[in-house]
Amino acid sequence: MKPAFNVGGRSDIYIGPAEELLGGVLPAGRIVALSDTTVARCCGELLAPYECVLIGTGERNKTLRTVETVYRRFIELGVDRRTFVLAVGGGIVTDVAGFAAATYMRGVAFGFVPTTLLGQVDAAVGGKNGVNVDGYKNMAGTFTQPQLVICDPALLRTLPDREFRAGLAEVVKAAVIADADLFACIAQSTFGQLRSDAELLADVVAAAVRVKTDIVGRDERERGERRKLNLGHTLAHAIEKCSPAMNHGEAVAVGTALITDAAVRLGVLSDADRVRIRELLARLGFDLTPPVAMPLLLKEVVRDKKREDGLLHVVLPVGIGDCTVRPMTPEAFAALFD
Ligand code: GLY
Repeated sequence: MKPAFNVGGRSDIYIGPAEELLGGVLPAGRIVALSDTTVARCCGELLAPYECVLIGTGERNKTLRTVETVYRRFIELGVDRRTFVLAVGGGIVTDVAGFAAATYMRGVAFGFVPTTLLGQVDAAVGGKNGVNVDGYKNMAGTFTQPQLVICDPALLRTLPDREFRAGLAEVVKAAVIADADLFACIAQSTFGQLRSDAELLADVVAAAVRVKTDIVGRDERERGERRKLNLGHTLAHAIEKCSPAMNHGEAVAVGTALITDAAVRLGVLSDADRVRIRELLARLGFDLTPPVAMPLLLKEVVRDKKREDGLLHVVLPVGIGDCTVRPMTPEAFAALFD
């Protein structure tokens, strides 16, 4: 079986039926699966062949405490350096599993079967595995590539609409930063078509994964171009902190809309493209109203710890399928929204 994509010669990305692919691509030897209680109920058949470690659901479990409970279960099960860890689940499962596997006994091999759209097009691909610390997103983590990732669009059929929509925010992000054809394709489709047309969905997943693997292949450790994948995320992280009821994708949609407005004010994006981006997000069902007043969000941005030499790397769309990264102080960033 040939992977659709590869990152750095180490991470094979397959797009297709998970059960069948697992049979053909998993390494020989002991496999221990890691998943969460919800996925264990809905994807039981995928997990059935393996010993399984389960974590709780929700962002509040994306912590070092959860990683520690995983290490303890690994010790109880006698997981060693030759064991392969297979994570089956959404972004929280794959982040926790990737972090735990990359650090347990100084690293065991691992692979992912992402079961959410957000996981398939973003979280599970590219080797960033992080957990939150004191509510700050992904403050502890590793850059370690999964040996394999299997993106099976059929697994997304039972996803609630809200979860599916959250993944579409990352698809729109990929389209805005690097793929005008993907943008046009989503713009010509309805939410219902994206949900129900298996072929269309497989094409959309593949296109978004291509954007990500191309960029990560050129800049695995986020020293430059990979920063583009954070379009909308500076504000999204502040939104998630101020409004915990919103999920990551919903926050990314609002963050993308707001930074798109700022790009027009900075004179790097046309108003026509700003309207196209906002209209697409709104048509997919996102509410683009900031959930709290802008000054509160900007205060959170200024407090955020994710900086290099005191600077934020702000991703600005300069067209549909193109963007630029500008270093800015948090204060200069806040001034964009005065
Ligand atoms: N989620 C952004 C990245 O993987 O770089």
